Amino acid sequence: MSTFTIRLATTNDAESIRAIYNHYVTHSTCTYQIELETAEERVAWFGERSERYPATVAETDGQVIGWAALSPWKSRCGYAWAAEASVYIHHEHHRRGLGKALLLDLIERAKAAGLHTIIGGASSDQTASLALQYAVGFKLMGTFREVGRKFDRWLDVTHTQMVLQ
Ligand SMILES: CC(C)(COP(=O)(O)OP(=O)(O)OC[C@H]1O[C@@H](n2cnc3c(N)ncnc32)[C@H](O)[C@@H]1OP(=O)(O)O)[C@@H](O)C(=O)NCCC(=O)NCCS
Repeated sequence: MSTFTIRLATTNDAESIRAIYNHYVTHSTCTYQIELETAEERVAWFGERSERYPATVAETDGQVIGWAALSPWKSRCGYAWAAEASVYIHHEHHRRGLGKALLLDLIERAKAAGLHTIIGGASSDQTASLALQYAVGFKLMGTFREVGRKFDRWLDVTHTQMVLQ
């Protein structure tokens, strides 16, 4: 694979981002979304992005093969310095350093935007997701038992966190 670059996402990337994500909606517990995301929902998601809550993409040869984003962790004003991270790599491009590069880039953007902490986490069966978070320095916070349900089974959720500054 040729090298990749990371840049801020634009609405022109909405369909690429949606395609990467919807693969996991159908096949994985890494998202508990069950219905495929619509084009309108992803466009609306762009309206929630800002310097504090950016979306980024990794691309190679003009093709978007991964994306990442920060979102508000909770909506109350007092949570304004905490964000939640998401990273999704196209399922044919795993283990090439994309996820780590996107997450490290997101951490730097979070620091620059004045955020204080990033919340991570994943369905507890998502080894890759949690391993990536630990690899960049997130710490284990705890596990909620059977708070999710997908593919006819109860799922635990493990939470992680990184304090930035
Ligand atoms: C989790 C995910 C983003 C990792 O992306 P990736 O580009 O494949 O990961 P990287 O190549 O950057 O891996 C970085 C490190 O993470 C860890 N890691 C990644 N995938 C792993 C796996 N399948 N098993 C164990 N460790 C893994 C390793 O420590 C790895 O370092 P190494 O390759 O030097 O051993 C990717 O698997 C993915 O998109 N999964 C589905 C979506 C998801 O779970 N997103 C997380 C929700 S926030």
